[in-house]
Formats: sequence, structure tokens, C-alpha cells
Amino acid sequence: MRAAWLLLPLLLLAAERSDAARLAGKLKPVFVKDTAWENNPATSVSFDCSTADPTQLLRMHHFNQAQVGVNKTGFILHRAGSRQALIETGTNDGRNIKKLHETGVFRLVSSIEFSPVYFSRVNATLGGTPGLRLYSGDSGVVLPRALADTASVVPGGVVVWLDAHYSLGKTAGATQKEPPILKEATAVLTSEFARDHVLIMDDVRLFGAYLYRQNYPTPTQVQQHVCRMQPQAYFCYENDALTIWSGNPSRR
Ligand SMILES: *[C@@H]1O[C@H](CO)[C@@H](O)[C@H](O)[C@H]1NC(C)=O
Ligand SMILES: *[C@@H]1O[C@H](CO)[C@@H](O)[C@H](O)[C@H]1NC(C)=O
Repeated sequence: MRAAWLLLPLLLLAAERSDAARLAGKLKPVFVKDTAWENNPATSVSFDCSTADPTQLLRMHHFNQAQVGVNKTGFILHRAGSRQALIETGTNDGRNIKKLHETGVFRLVSSIEFSPVYFSRVNATLGGTPGLRLYSGDSGVVLPRALADTASVVPGGVVVWLDAHYSLGKTAGATQKEPPILKEATAVLTSEFARDHVLIMDDVRLFGAYLYRQNYPTPTQVQQHVCRMQPQAYFCYENDALTIWSGNPSRR
């Protein structure tokens, strides 16, 4: 009996490994240049709320192929347009938020981290930096507060980079049945200035997958969820990310 209990963690680890292996086997890395997002019809596809089956559309455009080598900082800045605030979910080691803060483009950057280990590590080095706010907790729960805090400092559109999901190691959220992505989308799309925000969901190659015992929504489920709140939403898939403008065409 005791031996069986000792084996359990090993079995769980093996299951996670095989999940990852199964998925990795499906992915064919595609190397793209840093500037791939600049009007490259070969690597981007757009749709809106009237599009019948975005999952199928993206599949035709090889959405499950990992696009490696993209400079995500440059991509986020490009998508930010003239927005002066940024919120990231999934601080991880803090490298991304640090780089984005250092560009000086934003009056306020904020990041939310669920793992207490990562949060205290990053807070120890970046905590208290002017123009940078770190939040600890589940982004599905904390994001409304971060949006309200941001709106009180920078009233207007925010670029929201959604990258929170369990991925082994010391990352948090292992017991969740799904990543917080749909809850996060709800928070953004029901907040003040919702129509001026732009959301970027990272890791779209995982959408529709079952990974580490979590169900990722399909692109079609994301579209339906978003369009229930914002029927004028506009979507663009590029660089393994799904960018969503929530409805004000002049803010694209
Ligand atoms: C990524 O893009 C940013 C913003 O355009 C730029 O400052 C940075 O040097 C780039 N990094 C790399 C590794 O190319
Ligand atoms: C984060 O860092 C700030 C600034 O150093 C500090 O005041 C704060 O107590 C830290 N927060 C936590 C939860 O450790």
C-alpha cells in the first residue's frame, strides 16, 4: 500500500510527460523573422464574430505550428498602438515585463503572478519600481482589480497580454481544469474602456489541446465567448498569438 502511494507522483509525472510529448510530436516549429507581423499575409489570418468556424480557419493556416523566434516584446509594442498602459498575466521570471517597462513606452505596466515562488522572486528585484506594479494571485480573479487600478492612473485603452497557464515546474494553477484565459477575457471585455483595449492571447498552438490535465478552449470557443460580450470584436491570429480588438475600429 505504502509503495503504491510512493509510486503515485511518478505515475502523474509520467502522464504529464506523455501529454507534453504527444503535443510536442504534433508541433512543427516554424521560424519566423522578428518583423513577421508586418503585413505578412502568409503568417496572419483575421476573422470576426460572423466567421463560422475560426478553429477550422486557423487549422488551414497551420495554427498548431509553434512559431519560434518571434520577438514578443516587439510584437506587443506593435499591437499596443498608442495605448499607454499594459497588463500582463503570468509574470514568470519577470523578464518580459522588465523589458516592456524599460522601453519607456508605457506610463504604467502591471503583471499578475499566481505562483508565490515566482512572485516573491520577481518582487524582490522589481517590487517598488516606479511605473511598474506586481500583483500576486490567480489572474482570473485579480485581473478586474488590475484593470480598475490602471484605469484610475491611465484612463483609456490598455494592451493586455494574456500568458497565464500552468506549465509544470514551479508554475501555479496545477489543480485548475482549464487555463484562466476565458475568465481573463471576461474581465477585460466588461471593464471600463473595454472598447479601447486590445487583448493578446499567447500560445494559441495549445488552443483545443488537453495538456497537463487542463482543457484549453478552441479558437471557436474563444470567439463565441468574446462575441457574446462584444459582437463587434475583431480577431487576428499571428505569431502563435490571437489579438482581439474589442470593438472600436479606430483603436485597431
Ligand atoms: C525586440 O524588439 C524590441 C522593440 O522593438 C527591441 O527594442 C529589441 O531590441 C528587440 N530584441 C531583439 C532580441 O531583437
Ligand atoms: C514587494 O516588494 C515591495 C517593495 O520592495 C514591498 O514593499 C512589498 O512588501 C513586497 N510584497 C510582498 C508581498 O512581498
